[in-house]
Amino acid sequence: MQKILVINSKGGCGKTTVATNLASYFATQNLSTALLDFDPQGSSIRWLSQRAKSGKAIYGVHVASRKNNTGLTRSFQMRVPPETERMIIDAPAGITGNELRDLIHLVDTIIVPVLPSSIDIHAVTRFIEELLVVGKVRQMGLNVAVVANRAKKNTLTYKALERFLKTLKLPFVTTLRDTQNYVHAAERGIGIHEMWDKRTDSDKAQWRPLVRWLEDVYLIKTKQKIAH
Ligand SMILES: Nc1ncnc2c1ncn2[C@@H]1O[C@H](COP(=O)(O)OP(=O)(O)O)[C@@H](O)[C@H]1O
Ligand SMILES: [Mg+2]
Repeated sequence: MQKILVINSKGGCGKTTVATNLASYFATQNLSTALLDFDPQGSSIRWLSQRAKSGKAIYGVHVASRKNNTGLTRSFQMRVPPETERMIIDAPAGITGNELRDLIHLVDTIIVPVLPSSIDIHAVTRFIEELLVVGKVRQMGLNVAVVANRAKKNTLTYKALERFLKTLKLPFVTTLRDTQNYVHAAERGIGIHEMWDKRTDSDKAQWRPLVRWLEDVYLIKTKQKIAH
């Protein structure tokens, strides 16, 4: 099973958008997919409840309470069907310290969405620092990638974000543009990979580097496990 955490300490940067679109993508690939919503607001679970019965199934769990997180995090894993191939965790904003460490221990892969704004760039610098120092993601052999979200190319803030992300020693895998396609998808409990309008073609293309990266790191991990 590949276990993916979508996280950033900042709210509104696209965690739920990335988590739900990723779940939808895996489901369309006929992979057994589970979406775990750790946010008390439950946006991912609400998205799932909008989903038509005819769509590819996604297993949802709302791990709402943040009190006694360790016990919860241990018990939820038992609630994910054993045949699950891809597990995605949608994290709430503001997770730090021990809570962050607990969440990191549940996964092998982390995606950090970032918005092009000076406030978000500043916040993510600190968050990535925390992932590295407190979360010890490198020592743990976790794969971490950054995704620029809601990009308006050719704007100064996007260019500043792009410059900043290129200086990080973490893969900056893709840029998702700012488009109502994500808003419409969210309302219908689907992802852009389940939309057939030509206007979603460029969005699907922007997802390709991210899904390829996820596949690559998963294959490498699997090979390492076999070698041991
Ligand atoms: N690429 C995008 N284009 C347009 N709107 C977006 C995009 N990504 C996110 N949004 C919108 O921004 C808002 C916040 O996104 P969300 O995924 O809920 O963030 P988070 O889970 O980090 O709080 C939502 O209304 C969402 O529909
Ligand atoms: Mg959210």
